[in-house]
Amino acid sequence: MRIGVFCSGGDAPGMNACVRAVVRRAISTENEVVGIQRGYQGLLDEDFFLNVKGEPRMTLRSVSGWSRLGGAQLRCSRCEEFRTEAGLVKAAGILTKHGIDALIPIGGDGTFRGAVDLMKHWNGKVVGCPGTIDNDLIGTDFTIGFSTAVQTAVEAVDKIRDTAESHERMFLVEVMGRHSGYIALHTALASGAEGVCIPETFTDIAGITEQLRVLKARGKTSVMMIVAEGDERGGAAVLQKELAATGCPFSTRVVVLGHLQRGGCPSSEDRILASRLGNYAVSALCNGATAAMAGVCGGANTLTPFRETFKEHKKLPADLIELLERLAM
Ligand code: F6P
Repeated sequence: MRIGVFCSGGDAPGMNACVRAVVRRAISTENEVVGIQRGYQGLLDEDFFLNVKGEPRMTLRSVSGWSRLGGAQLRCSRCEEFRTEAGLVKAAGILTKHGIDALIPIGGDGTFRGAVDLMKHWNGKVVGCPGTIDNDLIGTDFTIGFSTAVQTAVEAVDKIRDTAESHERMFLVEVMGRHSGYIALHTALASGAEGVCIPETFTDIAGITEQLRVLKARGKTSVMMIVAEGDERGGAAVLQKELAATGCPFSTRVVVLGHLQRGGCPSSEDRILASRLGNYAVSALCNGATAAMAGVCGGANTLTPFRETFKEHKKLPADLIELLERLAM
């Protein structure tokens, strides 16, 4: 097979380790790999990774040292043209022209929606790998990039706690997660935050203010509130205003971590997960799988039809939400 591999949507730490695994597994099983740069946009532009000989074919050495690299060596994009019928037809023609038999897209829900649409115009096989810091895809316990993003956020919150303690302040720390509270919840638990505001649960401003009064009366001198950017009431700045209006007993500051969470060297968990998924995606393609995402659930490799992966929002573990509430005293 001639397999096209690319990274798409928002970059996520570990994407490079995944490409490395795809390339090495594919070549060792006598398949060929074409690296498509800049995701779907690069496919439409016929922007292929060139090896040292200038050929559009990845070699074992093309991916040397990629496990530890942050960002996406193949680059990433969000592509408007690919959402159009004309764009999909054009992409199908390009894949046929270059003799590509199969694709391994590494990305999130938008990437897999794109793959489903492409398959209406092209009859090659597609097995995807979940690459997004959001951890919002059904069919895998964790997505590539999530572990690193949480670690980065936790390190930032630990630092913010130092200054919060010195000034006896409350900080609203906004983390990424457009539709998902996964990063926020894990960051909050790991950093010992006093609260979390996430799209999955109702953010009760009056209730939070009341809780803050109780905490202050118990002698709390600093408060960390982790806010998912996608919280239904808005981001951290909006919550800060609403809390002030209900008589928040702490002086508050807002920190938005933003794209900081997408950068940096991948954690060992992300490198291992990415290596495992890239390897498994190739073997799944070789075994005839298509229109599915490779995942790891409960320690086992799994394949989930693309449509299932984004059908609904992945639920947060209720016990972790309860645990955070129980420990924030
Ligand atoms: O999907 C990953 C993600 O980082 C989200 O958490 C965030 O909302 C979004 O991408 C930001 O996208 P962009 O980099 O295009 O602004």
